[in-house]
Amino acid sequence: MKDQAEKLRAVANELRNQNEAETAAVSNFTLTANQAKVIAITSGKGGVGKSTLAVNLAISLCMNGKRVALVDGDLGLANIDIMLGITPEYTLHHLITGKKSLEEIIIEGLFGLKIIPGWSGIENLLDLSSDEVKRIIAELSKIEDQVDYLIIDTGAGISKIITAFIKAADIVLLVTTPEPTSITDAYSALKNVIEVKENKEVGLIVNRVVNRREGIRIAARLAEVCEKFLNFKLQFLGYISNNNIVGEAVTRQRPVISLYPNSSVVEEITAIGRELLSADENGQTGKERHGLTAFFAKVFEFLK
Ligand SMILES: Nc1ncnc2c1ncn2[C@@H]1O[C@H](COP(=O)(O)OP(=O)(O)OP(=O)(O)O)[C@@H](O)[C@H]1O
Ligand SMILES: [Mg+2]
Repeated sequence: MKDQAEKLRAVANELRNQNEAETAAVSNFTLTANQAKVIAITSGKGGVGKSTLAVNLAISLCMNGKRVALVDGDLGLANIDIMLGITPEYTLHHLITGKKSLEEIIIEGLFGLKIIPGWSGIENLLDLSSDEVKRIIAELSKIEDQVDYLIIDTGAGISKIITAFIKAADIVLLVTTPEPTSITDAYSALKNVIEVKENKEVGLIVNRVVNRREGIRIAARLAEVCEKFLNFKLQFLGYISNNNIVGEAVTRQRPVISLYPNSSVVEEITAIGRELLSADENGQTGKERHGLTAFFAKVFEFLK
């Protein structure tokens, strides 16, 4: 009798320890040693330069000695693969379905950039069991210590998954062009960002400008409207000139930063990177830096 009671106690203890370990693992989502900053790039209108910015900004941060991972969060089109001229054998789909590990799907790009290809098959995310979710988060967390910035190219508009990325990211970069429709769509997108994100930190990038003045003028106008109607302070992170070399780089499937490293476009993208870094280093934008594990855990939480 005594023997059986002891056995039961041992089993109960084991279960309790397991639960404690599980709870600790979950709370560790927010307590890892190196916490990467997650940057989500979004826009109102499509085709305004999100993927161009994502790819070249990621490489410019790598060139500044930062460790960067780039995720293609565009559901339909594998923008980043095309832009970098890579044909990944495996994608996040293989990781989600348990067929491959994170190491097996990551592709090493220029300057050590870690490319996590293709978020296709993401619809599956909505039907995962909690054990599967835990396994995927554990897998994605393997690179937690190897990454300072995770850049996620989210695609345009608002879908459940894009909203989840935006909500979970530490900072959102909003891209617009000078086109009036792009500006009004950026404003609507910003309203959504503010609505879903509690600690909003949003940086504006004006792409395809004729000159610096145009970039500043558009940013100032948008910032004024945001302040007035949304009571929101929009940060201006920089502008990028309109230049045919960007289209040429897309056609040649090479990032413009490696094709034309001395161009003004590349200097402007590098300046955006420097702006992000210096704001981080001055503690201006460093408040929100929750790491990859917390990011993915939040994404799954929001998708529930
Ligand atoms: N600064 C620029 N100067 C000239 N052309 C540009 C510039 N930025 C982007 N483009 C052009 O716009 C096209 C769309 O850019 P990109 O794919 O980066 O936009 P996107 O916002 O990611 O699009 P989508 O919403 O479809 O994902 C590119 O193929 C390129 O030709
Ligand atoms: Mg794109």
